[in-house]
This record gives sequence, C-alpha cells and structure tokens, in this order.
Amino acid sequence: MITAPVAPGTTRLETLEMSLTERYRQVRCFSEALCAPLETEDYGVQSMADVSPPKWHLGHVSWFFETFLLVPHLPGYELFHPKFGYLFNSYYEAVGERHPRPQRGLLSRPTVAEVYRYRAYVDGAMERLLNQRGQEREIAALVVLGLHHEQQHQELLVTDIKHILAINPLRPVYREDLGREDLGREDLHDPVGASIPRPPALEFVNIEAGIVEMGRDVSGLEARFEDFAFDNEGPKHKVYVGEFAIANRLVTNREYLEFIEAGGYRQPQHWLSEGWGTILKEQWEAPLYWEKINDEWHVMTLGGLQPLNLDEPVCHVSLYEADAYASWAEKRLPTEAEWELVAQQQWSEQANELRDTGNWVEQDCLHPQAFQGNQSGTCIHQLFGDVWEWTQSAYLPYPGFQVAEGAIGEYNGKFMCGQRVLRGGSCATSVSHIRPTYRNFFPPSTRWQFSGIRLAR
Ligand SMILES: [Fe+2]
Repeated sequence: MITAPVAPGTTRLETLEMSLTERYRQVRCFSEALCAPLETEDYGVQSMADVSPPKWHLGHVSWFFETFLLVPHLPGYELFHPKFGYLFNSYYEAVGERHPRPQRGLLSRPTVAEVYRYRAYVDGAMERLLNQRGQEREIAALVVLGLHHEQQHQELLVTDIKHILAINPLRPVYREDLGREDLGREDLHDPVGASIPRPPALEFVNIEAGIVEMGRDVSGLEARFEDFAFDNEGPKHKVYVGEFAIANRLVTNREYLEFIEAGGYRQPQHWLSEGWGTILKEQWEAPLYWEKINDEWHVMTLGGLQPLNLDEPVCHVSLYEADAYASWAEKRLPTEAEWELVAQQQWSEQANELRDTGNWVEQDCLHPQAFQGNQSGTCIHQLFGDVWEWTQSAYLPYPGFQVAEGAIGEYNGKFMCGQRVLRGGSCATSVSHIRPTYRNFFPPSTRWQFSGIRLAR
C-alpha cells in the first residue's frame, strides 16, 4: 500500500514502492552473498588493470546510489565519507576527479569492514528515500538504473574474483561445492545408468531474409525494474537482414581443441592483424584459464582447477580468437542484427522457459554447462545464458541515439569506439538483467569475461 505523499507534478505509480523496495533489498543482498565466500585478503586484490578489487565494486555501487540519488534527492543526507567520491567514482567526468583505475588494488583503506558499513549506511538512507519519494517517476527510474548497474557489477564480481584466484599459484577455490565433476549433470545420477547426453551435432539453421526491428524505445524513465533497458538499446529501428544460417549450438571445447591441435594459433592466415599481433605479444596458445598438466588440459573454475570437459562451450576467448576459429572453420561470427532476429523470436515464444532453464548466475553453477537437452522446443540451443556470444558488429550508436544530459549520459555513449558487441548473457548474468535487445560490449582482446563462440554463415 502506498501511503507516502506524492510530490506535485510527479506521476503516481501504484504499488511501485513495495516492489521496488523489495527489489532493492534483493539486489543489494546478492552482491554481498557473492562476496561471502571470500577471505578478507581477497577483497583488495587487483589482478590486472581491467579487474577491480571486490572491495571497490562493493563501494562503487553504493557510491552510485549516494551520488545520483541520496545527495540530490534526500533532504538532509550527509555523505558517509567526504573522500569516498574520489575513491569510488569510476569514470564520470561530470562528477569530478577520481582515483586512477589501475591503482585500485593499492588501497588498504577503507577496510573491508568500513566498506560494509558504507553499504549499510547507504541502504538505510535509500530505504528512507524509497519510503518518502519512491513513487516519483524520476526517483524510481534512477533506483532502477542503480539496481541494473549493481547487477552489471555483480557479473564483474564473479569474473574478477575468478581472475584474482586464478592468477594465484595456490589456485584457491572460491567455493568447494562448485568443483564437483558432475555439477549440473543430473543425468549422471540416473540409477539405470543412462548414457550422458552429448551436445547435438553442429548444424546450421537457415533463416530467411527479413526485416528485424532492433532494439527498444527507451524513455530513460523506466520506473519498473522489469521494464528497464539501457539507453544503448535504443532507439528501436528497422534493419534488413539477408538470408543467413546460424549454428544450432555453441562451439565446444572439443571443437576448439581441434583448432588448437591443427595449429590454429600458429597460422596467421586465420587471424585479424591486431589479433595475430596480440597472440604473439601475449604468447596466447589457448583460451584464458586453460592449463596443461601432465599433457592433459585443465581449466580454472570458481570450484578450482578441473579437467577440461570437452562437451562444454568454449569460454574465455577474445574476439580475436572467436574470429580466428570461425575463419579456420570456414564460417563467420553473426552480426548483432542476425543474432537479435533469432533471439527476439525465441524469447517471444519461450521467455519463461529460457528464464527457468538457462544457465544464469541464479543457477549457481558459475561455469558454462555442456548442453543437457533442457531447451525442448527450440532448435537453436543456449542462445541465452552460459556464455556471452561475440558478434562481428562494432559497438556503435543505433540511428538516432542521443546521449542523455548530465553525468548519467556518460554511462554508455562515450564507450562507442573500438569495442565489439556480445549478446545473450552468461552464467554470471542475472536472469532479471537480460533481454534479447541487451548489448554488452568489450574491447576485442578481452578474455576474462565468460565469452564464447556461436558460428554463422
Ligand atoms: Fe559502475
């Protein structure tokens, strides 16, 4: 029930307060749950410039609520700490100067305990703000943005924690229960000893030429969490897509290993020039986290070092590697328009099933899973969840895209240069955070995200 007064000139949103407050609590709690298995020493490590210490993520997402909601909109709000704005501003020029990103791992203070106190302080003030003004569309829209922002950082927490533990020679385990060989393979428990389902044969599904209405019209004022889309998903626009074919499943470790064993990493003809330069410079010979022990491939997971499961989708490859593999296989990567054409149709028919059965962070595997035949009714498997799928499309503004005014306008638009689009979400993405129009983007050399390969032709 809404009892708080509604400010003049604002739109009253029935029942918004309750649902948004509940969602706020849920999202905030999940960030802390993801960090619960960490030791205090893990919280401060920055294993490379792209990785942020878990402590920084926990502080930064709280700073976002403090800066964009509490300071401007909660009368009488006092900052938790006058210098946290400098420490926890990520990239917002309009908000002021900030601590250099590559030096986030040098900070022993604030302590982990102080960061958790900061979170609790912000949460207390946010409850007051939601109680007082949660029904105003402008406030609700900023809270919704803040929650989706925190969900993005939850995925980064998973990938950053994995990297932090993986570079440690002790190969620490994030959670012992994730290391079970049969994780997610319920069929192995079959008392009659039924054989383990294998991924289906790689096939290509023909898609007729047509016009796809890409993206969403985004008002920037989505006051319901479930209605949210980032500004980079709009405006909605029509794109003609010629006839093409898309793979029925993701490329597996088994297939990628064939590429490695055929000398793929030693044959420049398959590689983009930048990619070839990168693998020589970085001495890449396999995906990130692959490790050969006694001539057997292993892979680092959040459950520790595991034998490579050949049936799982290949993961932690850069765009360069995805593109080289496609070239070697005499195929190509899909464009984001092609991907979205297929995804929109599948989502419109099976959204509930895809949410229920997809390998999302809520599934709690935190690792891509071998196809288990759990997507009945679809012939294009694992389009959502498991691994982000590299596309061949550059991350560019859609026609008519306009950067919002103010600091919030810095969220997406200023990164539309030198990056490629990935689609579909991963085993570290929240199911309530994904949709067919969602555009993720990273530089082509990025490997520490859960990124994989779907072929097209
Ligand atoms: Fe952020």
